[in-house]
Amino acid sequence: MTQRSVILGCGHYLPRNVWTNDDLRARGVDTTDEWIQQRTGIKQRHAATENEKTSDLAIAAARMALHNAGITADQLDGIVLATTTPDCTFPATAVKVQAALGMTRGFAFDVQSVCSGFLYALSVANNFIITGQAKHLLVIGAETLTRLLNWHDRTTCVLFGDGAGAVVLGAATGTGTVADRGILSTHLHSDGRTHDLLYTNGGPGSNGQVGTIQMEGKEVFKHAVTRLAEVVDEALNANHLNKSDIDWLIPHQANERIILAMAEKLSLPTDRVIITIGEHANTSAASVPLALAHGQQKNKFKPGQLLLLETMGAGLSWGAALIRW
Ligand code: UT7
Repeated sequence: MTQRSVILGCGHYLPRNVWTNDDLRARGVDTTDEWIQQRTGIKQRHAATENEKTSDLAIAAARMALHNAGITADQLDGIVLATTTPDCTFPATAVKVQAALGMTRGFAFDVQSVCSGFLYALSVANNFIITGQAKHLLVIGAETLTRLLNWHDRTTCVLFGDGAGAVVLGAATGTGTVADRGILSTHLHSDGRTHDLLYTNGGPGSNGQVGTIQMEGKEVFKHAVTRLAEVVDEALNANHLNKSDIDWLIPHQANERIILAMAEKLSLPTDRVIITIGEHANTSAASVPLALAHGQQKNKFKPGQLLLLETMGAGLSWGAALIRW
């Protein structure tokens, strides 16, 4: 018998403010709706209101995930929250979620791996569960990325949005085969030599500033296509599965062209790919759990289907997970 982590419920939260591509143009960004849609697939993005913090987004998504999972906060053993935009430099944004949920035991901490953050958090949480150290965990990806944008840099400011997605993981017993429900495996990678392809020009330990996003978009694009293909093969090989076994692709939403290239590599029709970039833009650590919550809400995933989650972000960092729904 094997311990598995099963997704008991998903939740999401998107701020009420919506900025279309034309709204950005109206704000003075030298761009067009046509350029943004053609190059990225983005039509609009949600933006946190002035008083909304990353923790507010995370709390709303967490409450929905708990409700959908049918468990209460006092049953949770911990919270792992992925974010690049914490409310404060410290403590972790996760402890604010813990307090807001009325959870007085267990642990809560943040994971920072930018756009790969949710898969890193999911992997950490999965390891707590499969080693028997936790029964129920809340895993969140939450971001207020619009706070890190330089509105004079059209090559980055049109790409990002705010939001939060969450899942509740529960311990289940499996047979140890790929027929088990739950997370079959997770695969994480990073390569610090590519740090300067995507970073913020500020930080608490350098210049004391928050900084804004700096990106060599074309280079990141090339790495994304190669690395994602590699990590997907790694995940399939580790489970002795074939690409034809995949029912759903839940990719990081950075660029629709990258998403469609992955779908083509997997020979998956686009109606088997969750694509939310048009409405959400790139929400970094929130992107994969938002896409997952979207799929669940639309009742797309059927019990026993195989889901492939993949992501690529600053670091550069990348990863994949295979989940039997
Ligand atoms: O989530 C983390 C991982 N991130 C990613 O995976 C992002 C990967 N990169 C990308 O998605 C793409 O590289 C971008 C969407 C960022 C850029 O698309 P691109 O096709 O690589 O465009 P480019 O940077 O080569 O720029 C092409 C042209 C340039 O003009 P010239 O030099 O050809 O005259 C840019 O100045 O498009 C221009 N441009 C814009 N024009 C209108 C760049 N940004 C804009 C803009 N509006 N917002």
